[in-house]
Amino acid sequence: MSKHIGILTAGGDSPGLNAAIRGIGKTALAIGDMHIVGFRDGFRGLMENRIMRLDRETLSSILTRGGTILGTSRDKPHKMPVGSEVMDMTEVICDNYKRHNLDALICIGGGGTQKNAYRLAQKGLNIITLPKTIDNDVALTDVTFGFHTAMEIATEAIDRLHSTAHSHHRIIVVEVMGHNAGWLALGAGVAGGADVILIPEIPYNLQSAADAIRKRQQRGTNFSIVAVAEGALCVDGHNTLTELKEKKIQAKEKGDSKGQKKIAEALKEFSRNRSTTTLRLTEELERMTGLESRLTILGHYQRGGTPSAADRMLATRLGSTCVDYIVKGEFGVMVAVNGNGTKAVPLEQVVGNKKLVPLDHPWIRAARNVGTCLGD
Ligand code: F6P
Repeated sequence: MSKHIGILTAGGDSPGLNAAIRGIGKTALAIGDMHIVGFRDGFRGLMENRIMRLDRETLSSILTRGGTILGTSRDKPHKMPVGSEVMDMTEVICDNYKRHNLDALICIGGGGTQKNAYRLAQKGLNIITLPKTIDNDVALTDVTFGFHTAMEIATEAIDRLHSTAHSHHRIIVVEVMGHNAGWLALGAGVAGGADVILIPEIPYNLQSAADAIRKRQQRGTNFSIVAVAEGALCVDGHNTLTELKEKKIQAKEKGDSKGQKKIAEALKEFSRNRSTTTLRLTEELERMTGLESRLTILGHYQRGGTPSAADRMLATRLGSTCVDYIVKGEFGVMVAVNGNGTKAVPLEQVVGNKKLVPLDHPWIRAARNVGTCLGD
């Protein structure tokens, strides 16, 4: 009996998505008697029946392309903006799954996508997921595809910033993506030889960072590179956020809706201020060290363009293995990277967990050993 397989890509795009789509498609075509259909723009395309047939022609020449040929969105099945409203479209999505006679739906994405996919699996759909994100923060997989390329791009940026910082005797603060995880800033910071690396897992003390820069000045090195993760917080900021999160849980437990609203507002305000954190950090470092300082925000540049060889390899491998799991009828799982191999991890174990940098991780040890200040 021929099989019908759907694919969608959701959440922020990342290099390697097309390699994964190709890996799935070509493996399925080689097995034979499999029909692959792509849904455009994540879960929204499945809800709106917007499809792309993935045949030999469509799958050709996409291995090296950045982004996703399917398009993506952050829309959630249960909270979908429809016109001026936000609606639960889960039932419509389940109906469309049946309408397309799907035997399986492959959802490719990061933490949010894993959650949304799990919800659909709970509704009885045959769901299988692949872990992609430049943040590398999906639980229970060694790595996610997209991360390696983004780390290369951020490292190259740090390399280039070195020569201009050196020539102008400046501090250059470089803000690296990663959401609430420090993998990207730490990886690129160590690889690029940043002098200070600040990550969310280690709340920082501004004085420690300034002291490290001053020590370099005393040794006659009048420039410094500070790699800071977008989610990094100083000790006070970290404490405020922890307190707000605790209060939110307490208000929820008490059923205090007024309190919950107030805390939600305070959290919104906190994240609005957060977008200017690195600018304030840059200004403070200038004030504390007397060195002219500049801020570079790498932003979405880190997500664009052609995937690295490592990401093409990983995405191809995961995409291809995913089809093997479908053939075996293994659903409700994420195809995780496990050393040189893969393993099927139940989605319920993946959702609600984030893979942050462990404080005893070898990259942290290596950074400290070579004299990098981590802000603590
Ligand atoms: O999750 C990937 C990521 O690039 C994060 O590093 C970043 O915080 C976020 O997405 C940016 O989201 P958007 O593309 O919606 O601006």
